Amino acid sequence: MEREIRPYQSEDYDKLKSWLSELGRFYDGHEAGRFIDQLVNKEQEDEFGYFTTAKEVYVVSEGGQELESIVLNYKRGGSVKVGPFVVDPDARGKGLGTYLLQFAEERAREKGRRKIYATTSHLNEPVNKVFTKCGFKVEAQFPDQYKKGSVELIWGKVLLQPEAAAEFTEITTTIESNAAEFKVQPYSPAFYTGFRELILNKLPMWHDEINDEFVLRTIIGHLQGVDFEKKGKVILVANSGNEVLGCSIVVPKRGGPAKLYPVLGTESAQAELIQQSNKLARHIGSHKVYTFAPIEDRKQQQVLESMGFTQRGVIAEPYKPRRDLTCYDKFL
Ligand SMILES: CC(C)(COP(=O)(O)OP(=O)(O)OC[C@H]1O[C@@H](n2cnc3c(N)ncnc32)[C@H](O)[C@@H]1OP(=O)(O)O)[C@@H](O)C(=O)NCCC(=O)NCCS
Repeated sequence: MEREIRPYQSEDYDKLKSWLSELGRFYDGHEAGRFIDQLVNKEQEDEFGYFTTAKEVYVVSEGGQELESIVLNYKRGGSVKVGPFVVDPDARGKGLGTYLLQFAEERAREKGRRKIYATTSHLNEPVNKVFTKCGFKVEAQFPDQYKKGSVELIWGKVLLQPEAAAEFTEITTTIESNAAEFKVQPYSPAFYTGFRELILNKLPMWHDEINDEFVLRTIIGHLQGVDFEKKGKVILVANSGNEVLGCSIVVPKRGGPAKLYPVLGTESAQAELIQQSNKLARHIGSHKVYTFAPIEDRKQQQVLESMGFTQRGVIAEPYKPRRDLTCYDKFL
Protein backbone atom coordinates (compact mmCIF):
# COMPACT_ATOMS: atom_id res chain seq x y z
CA MET A 1 0.00 0.00 0.00
CA GLU A 2 1.25 3.43 -0.80
CA ARG A 3 2.31 5.61 2.10
CA GLU A 4 1.68 9.34 1.79
CA ILE A 5 2.94 12.27 3.86
CA ARG A 6 0.87 15.40 3.41
CA PRO A 7 0.15 18.65 5.24
CA TYR A 8 -2.68 18.65 7.79
CA GLN A 9 -6.21 19.26 6.44
CA SER A 10 -9.24 20.29 8.46
CA GLU A 11 -10.75 16.77 7.97
CA ASP A 12 -7.93 15.40 10.16
CA TYR A 13 -9.08 17.43 13.16
CA ASP A 14 -11.09 14.75 15.03
CA LYS A 15 -8.49 12.06 14.53
CA LEU A 16 -5.66 14.28 15.75
CA LYS A 17 -7.72 15.39 18.71
CA SER A 18 -8.35 11.80 19.80
CA TRP A 19 -4.69 10.89 19.36
CA LEU A 20 -3.48 13.92 21.29
CA SER A 21 -5.80 13.33 24.25
CA GLU A 22 -3.34 10.65 25.38
CA LEU A 23 -0.68 13.24 26.16
CA GLY A 24 -2.51 14.14 29.38
CA ARG A 25 -0.54 11.24 30.91
CA PHE A 26 2.56 13.43 30.80
CA TYR A 27 1.24 16.98 31.04
CA ASP A 28 -0.94 18.45 33.78
CA GLY A 29 -3.74 20.66 32.52
CA HIS A 30 -3.59 19.08 29.05
CA GLU A 31 -6.80 19.55 27.08
CA ALA A 32 -6.61 17.97 23.64
CA GLY A 33 -9.23 20.33 22.19
CA ARG A 34 -7.51 23.57 23.16
CA PHE A 35 -4.14 22.08 22.34
CA ILE A 36 -5.06 21.10 18.81
CA ASP A 37 -6.80 24.43 18.17
CA GLN A 38 -3.57 26.13 19.06
CA LEU A 39 -1.56 23.75 16.88
CA VAL A 40 -3.57 23.87 13.69
CA ASN A 41 -5.58 27.06 13.55
CA LYS A 42 -2.48 29.04 12.74
CA GLU A 43 -0.65 26.40 10.85
CA GLN A 44 1.72 28.76 9.09
CA GLU A 45 2.21 31.29 11.79
CA ASP A 46 2.23 31.08 15.56
CA GLU A 47 0.56 34.39 16.17
CA PHE A 48 1.70 35.13 19.67
CA GLY A 49 4.82 33.00 19.89
CA TYR A 50 8.00 35.03 20.21
CA PHE A 51 10.62 32.43 19.28
CA THR A 52 8.47 30.30 16.95
CA THR A 53 8.09 31.83 13.49
CA ALA A 54 6.20 29.06 11.65
CA LYS A 55 4.58 25.68 12.20
CA GLU A 56 4.03 22.72 9.89
CA VAL A 57 1.67 19.85 10.71
CA TYR A 58 2.04 16.64 8.68
CA VAL A 59 -0.17 13.57 8.50
CA VAL A 60 0.90 10.15 7.22
CA SER A 61 -1.71 7.90 5.61
CA GLU A 62 -1.71 4.53 3.97
CA GLY A 63 -4.54 3.34 1.69
CA GLY A 64 -6.63 6.33 2.75
CA GLN A 65 -6.17 5.52 6.44
CA GLU A 66 -4.50 8.16 8.65
CA LEU A 67 -1.74 6.60 10.72
CA GLU A 68 0.26 9.32 12.41
CA SER A 69 1.02 13.00 12.66
CA ILE A 70 3.90 15.31 13.54
CA VAL A 71 4.29 19.04 14.20
CA LEU A 72 7.42 21.00 13.29
CA ASN A 73 7.95 24.36 14.99
CA TYR A 74 10.44 26.60 13.22
CA LYS A 75 12.40 28.71 15.69
CA ARG A 76 14.23 31.97 15.29
CA GLY A 77 17.92 31.33 14.85
CA GLY A 78 17.86 28.12 12.82
CA SER A 79 16.45 25.27 14.89
CA VAL A 80 13.30 23.19 14.59
CA LYS A 81 11.39 21.86 17.58
CA VAL A 82 9.52 18.62 17.00
CA GLY A 83 6.33 18.14 18.86
CA PRO A 84 4.04 16.64 19.38
CA PHE A 85 4.13 13.50 17.28
CA VAL A 86 1.76 10.63 17.59
CA VAL A 87 1.01 7.27 15.96
CA ASP A 88 -2.47 5.74 15.86
CA PRO A 89 -2.66 3.33 18.86
CA ASP A 90 -3.43 0.38 16.54
CA ALA A 91 -0.37 1.00 14.37
CA ARG A 92 2.37 1.33 17.02
CA GLY A 93 5.51 -0.73 17.36
CA LYS A 94 5.98 -1.16 13.59
CA GLY A 95 8.54 1.56 13.03
CA LEU A 96 6.09 4.30 11.99
CA GLY A 97 7.24 6.67 14.74
CA THR A 98 10.87 6.26 13.69
CA TYR A 99 9.91 6.80 10.04
CA LEU A 100 8.13 10.05 10.86
CA LEU A 101 10.93 11.44 13.03
CA GLN A 102 13.39 10.67 10.22
CA PHE A 103 11.09 12.55 7.84
CA ALA A 104 11.08 15.53 10.25
CA GLU A 105 14.85 15.53 10.30
CA GLU A 106 15.05 15.41 6.49
CA ARG A 107 12.57 18.26 6.25
CA ALA A 108 14.64 20.33 8.71
CA ARG A 109 17.79 19.66 6.68
CA GLU A 110 16.01 20.56 3.44
CA LYS A 111 15.07 23.88 5.01
CA GLY A 112 18.71 24.50 5.94
CA ARG A 113 18.04 24.20 9.66
CA ARG A 114 21.06 23.75 11.95
CA LYS A 115 19.45 21.85 14.77
CA ILE A 116 16.45 19.71 15.63
CA TYR A 117 15.22 19.23 19.18
CA ALA A 118 12.27 18.06 21.27
CA THR A 119 11.21 17.54 24.85
CA THR A 120 9.63 14.37 26.25
CA SER A 121 8.79 12.87 29.62
CA HIS A 122 11.27 10.31 30.96
CA LEU A 123 8.20 8.10 31.55
CA ASN A 124 7.44 7.93 27.83
CA GLU A 125 9.64 4.95 26.97
CA PRO A 126 8.47 4.38 23.37
CA VAL A 127 9.13 7.95 22.28
CA ASN A 128 12.46 8.06 24.10
CA LYS A 129 13.50 4.90 22.24
CA VAL A 130 12.59 6.57 18.96
CA PHE A 131 14.72 9.66 19.74
CA THR A 132 17.67 7.50 20.81
CA LYS A 133 17.38 5.37 17.65
CA CYS A 134 17.40 8.53 15.53
CA GLY A 135 20.66 9.78 17.08
CA PHE A 136 19.32 12.45 19.45
CA LYS A 137 21.11 13.08 22.77
CA VAL A 138 19.62 14.19 26.10
CA GLU A 139 21.05 17.67 26.69
CA ALA A 140 19.16 18.66 29.83
CA GLN A 141 16.67 17.23 32.33
CA PHE A 142 14.04 19.26 34.19
CA PRO A 143 12.45 17.39 37.14
CA ASP A 144 8.70 17.75 37.88
CA GLN A 145 8.43 20.07 34.91
CA TYR A 146 4.97 19.54 33.44
CA LYS A 147 3.75 16.89 35.88
CA LYS A 148 4.87 15.82 39.34
CA GLY A 149 7.12 12.76 39.13
CA SER A 150 7.91 13.32 35.46
CA VAL A 151 11.36 14.48 34.36
CA GLU A 152 11.24 16.42 31.10
CA LEU A 153 14.14 15.43 28.83
CA ILE A 154 15.45 17.94 26.29
CA TRP A 155 16.64 15.99 23.25
CA GLY A 156 18.88 17.63 20.66
CA LYS A 157 20.64 16.77 17.42
CA VAL A 158 22.89 19.24 15.63
CA LEU A 159 22.39 18.89 11.86
CA LEU A 160 24.92 21.40 10.57
CA GLN A 161 28.21 21.72 12.40
CA PRO A 162 29.40 25.34 12.46
CA GLU A 163 32.51 26.11 10.46
CA ALA A 164 35.56 25.90 12.71
CA ALA A 165 37.84 28.75 13.75
CA ALA A 166 35.13 31.19 14.68
CA GLU A 167 36.21 34.27 16.51
CA PHE A 168 35.37 34.00 20.19
CA THR A 169 33.33 36.89 21.50
CA GLU A 170 32.48 37.48 25.13
CA ILE A 171 28.82 37.39 25.97
CA THR A 172 27.15 39.12 28.82
CA THR A 173 23.54 39.80 29.63
CA THR A 174 24.74 42.66 31.87
CA ILE A 175 24.64 46.36 31.00
CA GLU A 176 26.18 49.30 32.84
CA SER A 177 24.32 52.34 34.15
CA ASN A 178 25.00 55.24 36.51
CA ALA A 179 21.44 55.26 37.81
CA ALA A 180 21.52 54.13 41.44
CA GLU A 181 17.84 53.56 42.07
CA PHE A 182 15.23 51.81 40.00
CA LYS A 183 11.74 50.40 40.12
CA VAL A 184 10.42 47.18 38.61
CA GLN A 185 7.10 47.56 36.79
CA PRO A 186 5.12 45.74 34.12
CA TYR A 187 5.91 46.90 30.59
CA SER A 188 4.07 50.00 29.35
CA PRO A 189 4.56 52.02 26.16
CA ALA A 190 6.71 54.59 28.02
CA PHE A 191 9.44 51.90 28.13
CA TYR A 192 9.21 50.93 24.46
CA THR A 193 12.39 52.70 23.29
CA GLY A 194 14.56 51.44 26.14
CA PHE A 195 13.11 47.92 26.05
CA ARG A 196 13.59 47.68 22.28
CA GLU A 197 17.16 48.92 22.54
CA LEU A 198 18.03 46.47 25.29
CA ILE A 199 16.63 43.51 23.35
CA LEU A 200 18.17 44.54 20.02
CA ASN A 201 21.59 45.31 21.55
CA LYS A 202 21.94 42.25 23.73
CA LEU A 203 19.97 39.26 22.50
CA PRO A 204 21.61 39.00 19.03
CA MET A 205 24.86 37.99 20.79
CA TRP A 206 23.37 34.52 21.30
CA HIS A 207 20.20 34.65 19.18
CA ASP A 208 19.94 35.04 15.42
CA GLU A 209 16.90 36.69 13.79
CA ILE A 210 16.20 39.12 16.61
CA ASN A 211 14.57 42.17 15.09
CA ASP A 212 11.71 44.66 15.49
CA GLU A 213 9.18 41.99 14.65
CA PHE A 214 10.45 39.93 17.60
CA VAL A 215 10.13 42.96 19.90
CA LEU A 216 6.59 43.52 18.67
CA ARG A 217 5.55 39.89 19.17
CA THR A 218 6.90 39.99 22.69
CA ILE A 219 4.86 43.08 23.44
CA ILE A 220 1.72 41.56 21.84
CA GLY A 221 2.24 38.51 24.07
CA HIS A 222 2.40 40.84 27.09
CA LEU A 223 -0.99 42.25 26.09
CA GLN A 224 -2.48 38.70 26.12
CA GLY A 225 -2.06 38.43 29.88
CA VAL A 226 -1.12 35.10 31.43
CA ASP A 227 -3.12 32.64 29.25
CA PHE A 228 -0.58 30.10 28.01
CA GLU A 229 -2.87 28.97 25.18
CA LYS A 230 -2.65 32.50 23.79
CA LYS A 231 1.10 32.59 24.29
CA GLY A 232 0.55 35.22 26.98
CA LYS A 233 3.56 36.59 28.79
CA VAL A 234 4.45 39.35 31.23
CA ILE A 235 7.32 41.73 30.57
CA LEU A 236 8.84 43.30 33.66
CA VAL A 237 10.96 46.40 33.23
CA ALA A 238 13.52 47.77 35.71
CA ASN A 239 13.53 51.51 35.18
CA SER A 240 14.79 54.79 36.47
CA GLY A 241 12.37 57.31 34.99
CA ASN A 242 12.29 56.41 31.33
CA GLU A 243 15.73 54.81 31.40
CA VAL A 244 15.41 51.05 31.08
CA LEU A 245 17.95 49.25 33.28
CA GLY A 246 16.72 45.75 32.66
CA CYS A 247 13.89 43.51 31.57
CA SER A 248 12.65 39.97 32.14
CA ILE A 249 9.92 38.01 30.41
CA VAL A 250 7.73 35.52 32.29
CA VAL A 251 5.87 32.98 30.15
CA PRO A 252 3.33 30.64 31.82
CA LYS A 253 3.44 27.14 30.36
CA ARG A 254 1.04 24.22 30.09
CA GLY A 255 1.36 22.02 33.16
CA GLY A 256 2.35 24.80 35.54
CA PRO A 257 5.95 25.93 35.12
CA ALA A 258 6.82 29.46 34.06
CA LYS A 259 9.62 30.20 31.63
CA LEU A 260 11.71 33.19 32.71
CA TYR A 261 13.58 34.27 29.62
CA PRO A 262 15.43 36.36 28.76
CA VAL A 263 16.71 38.35 31.74
CA LEU A 264 18.85 41.35 30.77
CA GLY A 265 20.13 44.47 32.52
CA THR A 266 22.48 45.78 35.18
CA GLU A 267 23.57 43.24 37.75
CA SER A 268 21.34 44.63 40.48
CA ALA A 269 18.41 45.04 38.08
CA GLN A 270 18.76 41.40 37.02
CA ALA A 271 18.70 40.20 40.63
CA GLU A 272 15.58 42.24 41.39
CA LEU A 273 13.90 41.19 38.13
CA ILE A 274 14.48 37.52 38.92
CA GLN A 275 13.06 38.05 42.40
CA GLN A 276 9.96 39.84 41.08
CA SER A 277 9.51 37.31 38.27
CA ASN A 278 9.53 34.46 40.79
CA LYS A 279 6.94 36.30 42.84
CA LEU A 280 4.76 36.81 39.79
CA ALA A 281 5.11 33.15 38.78
CA ARG A 282 4.09 32.06 42.27
CA HIS A 283 1.16 34.46 42.14
CA ILE A 284 -0.18 32.90 38.91
CA GLY A 285 0.12 29.42 40.43
CA SER A 286 3.37 28.20 38.88
CA HIS A 287 5.18 25.56 40.91
CA LYS A 288 8.57 26.34 39.36
CA VAL A 289 10.43 28.68 37.01
CA TYR A 290 13.05 27.70 34.47
CA THR A 291 15.48 29.76 32.46
CA PHE A 292 18.51 29.65 30.17
CA ALA A 293 21.75 31.61 30.49
CA PRO A 294 24.50 31.89 27.86
CA ILE A 295 27.27 29.52 28.87
CA GLU A 296 29.85 32.32 28.61
CA ASP A 297 27.93 34.58 30.99
CA ARG A 298 29.27 33.43 34.38
CA LYS A 299 27.91 36.58 36.00
CA GLN A 300 24.29 35.78 35.24
CA GLN A 301 24.84 32.18 36.26
CA GLN A 302 26.24 33.34 39.61
CA VAL A 303 23.21 35.58 40.15
CA LEU A 304 20.89 32.65 39.37
CA GLU A 305 22.81 30.23 41.58
CA SER A 306 22.90 32.71 44.48
CA MET A 307 19.11 32.89 44.20
CA GLY A 308 18.62 29.14 44.49
CA PHE A 309 18.52 28.10 40.83
CA THR A 310 19.93 24.67 39.93
CA GLN A 311 21.79 23.80 36.72
CA ARG A 312 20.01 21.10 34.71
CA GLY A 313 22.21 20.73 31.63
CA VAL A 314 23.51 22.59 28.59
CA ILE A 315 21.68 22.86 25.27
CA ALA A 316 23.94 23.07 22.24
CA GLU A 317 23.57 26.16 20.06
CA PRO A 318 19.77 26.33 20.01
CA TYR A 319 19.45 29.84 18.61
CA LYS A 320 22.82 30.72 17.10
CA PRO A 321 25.83 28.74 15.91
CA ARG A 322 28.40 28.09 18.67
CA ARG A 323 26.22 29.66 21.38
CA ASP A 324 25.27 27.12 24.01
CA LEU A 325 22.84 27.84 26.84
CA THR A 326 22.94 26.54 30.41
CA CYS A 327 19.54 25.42 31.72
CA TYR A 328 18.38 26.36 35.22
CA ASP A 329 15.27 25.88 37.31
CA LYS A 330 13.97 26.77 40.74
CA PHE A 331 11.01 25.37 42.66
CA LEU A 332 8.82 28.06 44.18
C1 LIG B 1 5.86 7.47 20.68
C2 LIG B 1 5.21 6.92 19.44
C3 LIG B 1 5.01 8.03 18.44
C4 LIG B 1 6.10 5.81 18.84
O1 LIG B 1 5.48 5.32 17.66
P1 LIG B 1 5.81 3.86 17.09
O2 LIG B 1 5.28 3.78 15.71
O3 LIG B 1 5.32 2.84 18.05
O4 LIG B 1 7.41 3.90 17.08
P2 LIG B 1 8.44 2.79 16.58
O5 LIG B 1 7.68 1.55 16.24
O6 LIG B 1 9.26 3.40 15.52
O7 LIG B 1 9.37 2.60 17.85
C5 LIG B 1 8.83 2.43 19.13
C6 LIG B 1 9.85 1.79 20.02
O8 LIG B 1 9.36 1.77 21.36
C7 LIG B 1 9.31 0.43 21.81
N1 LIG B 1 8.18 0.33 22.74
C8 LIG B 1 6.88 0.26 22.45
N2 LIG B 1 6.17 0.21 23.58
C9 LIG B 1 7.04 0.25 24.60
C10 LIG B 1 6.93 0.25 26.01
N3 LIG B 1 5.75 0.20 26.60
N4 LIG B 1 8.07 0.33 26.74
C11 LIG B 1 9.27 0.40 26.16
N5 LIG B 1 9.45 0.42 24.82
C12 LIG B 1 8.35 0.35 24.06
C13 LIG B 1 9.18 -0.40 20.58
O9 LIG B 1 9.61 -1.71 20.80
C14 LIG B 1 10.12 0.35 19.64
O10 LIG B 1 11.49 0.14 19.93
P3 LIG B 1 12.39 -0.89 19.09
O11 LIG B 1 12.38 -0.41 17.69
O12 LIG B 1 13.72 -0.79 19.75
O13 LIG B 1 11.71 -2.20 19.26
C15 LIG B 1 3.85 6.26 19.84
O14 LIG B 1 4.07 5.36 20.89
C16 LIG B 1 2.79 7.25 20.27
O15 LIG B 1 2.08 7.80 19.43
N6 LIG B 1 2.65 7.52 21.59
C17 LIG B 1 1.63 8.41 22.11
C18 LIG B 1 1.91 9.85 21.79
C19 LIG B 1 3.20 10.31 22.39
O16 LIG B 1 3.48 10.03 23.54
N7 LIG B 1 3.97 11.07 21.62
C20 LIG B 1 5.21 11.61 22.06
C21 LIG B 1 5.04 12.88 22.78
S1 LIG B 1 5.51 14.21 21.77
